[in-house]
Amino acid sequence: MKRKLVISTGAGMSAESGISTFRDAGGLWENYPVMQVASADGFRANPALVHEFYNQRRKDLLKAAPNAGHYGLVDLEKDFDVYVITQNVDDLHERAGSKNVLHLHGELMKVRALDNELKTFTLTPANIETSPDTRIEGHAVRPHIVFFQEAVPNFEPATELAAEADIFVIIGTSLAVYPAAALLHYVRKGVPVYYIDPNPAQVPADVHVIKAPATRGIEILARELRAQNS
Ligand code: APR
Repeated sequence: MKRKLVISTGAGMSAESGISTFRDAGGLWENYPVMQVASADGFRANPALVHEFYNQRRKDLLKAAPNAGHYGLVDLEKDFDVYVITQNVDDLHERAGSKNVLHLHGELMKVRALDNELKTFTLTPANIETSPDTRIEGHAVRPHIVFFQEAVPNFEPATELAAEADIFVIIGTSLAVYPAAALLHYVRKGVPVYYIDPNPAQVPADVHVIKAPATRGIEILARELRAQNS
């Protein structure tokens, strides 16, 4: 029986693919007014600006590819029952081949109908730009992103995954945003927790911190977990 390996990733997971993080030096929130481009109020006030912000991030994503860290997580599927919970809106985990990916903050390559939030559409590289005038199947659309000030509908299933984990791993997040940062507290007592980050945030003393970038840290983790399996 394969052990259940639940992995929670943040922007640092995609940093080595050339995708900006949010709170590092030069990060996205240094260059954009977060509440104007990524909040519910901001979208109501100026939808065109918000559409444009996500158009730009889609263009950046099309130029990016999964990095060795993404592929390292796919490789772990050989020996573990792997589930990825990600705060990232990019599709790099999926493009690398991860089978179980749960997005907490939405998906950049998707938009959804303004008049029916359950109706989503997947954009293709040929049509990645949207505006308030875009119509898909007659629907006006918005980015399929959880804006600040909005609920995180996938948090409950994420807590269930964390509670079922035999091993829990956190990669590349500043643990600054809730409720994602609270997932750690749903892990059963005694289950080992690892945290891979070159500049780790404060975490409880029993968390195994691997102070390294994702690509290197995942190599170290894989070796340690496989040694425990043998
Ligand atoms: N490998 C691993 N981690 C890295 C790397 C790397 N190469 N480079 C940077 N990091 C780490 C940073 O040290 C930091 O801890 O990635 C983390 C990035 O933190 P944030 O920029 O705050 O990103 P994240 O934690 O994912 O933000 C959470 O905030 O703005 C919202 O919705 C947005 O999902 C996002 C959420």
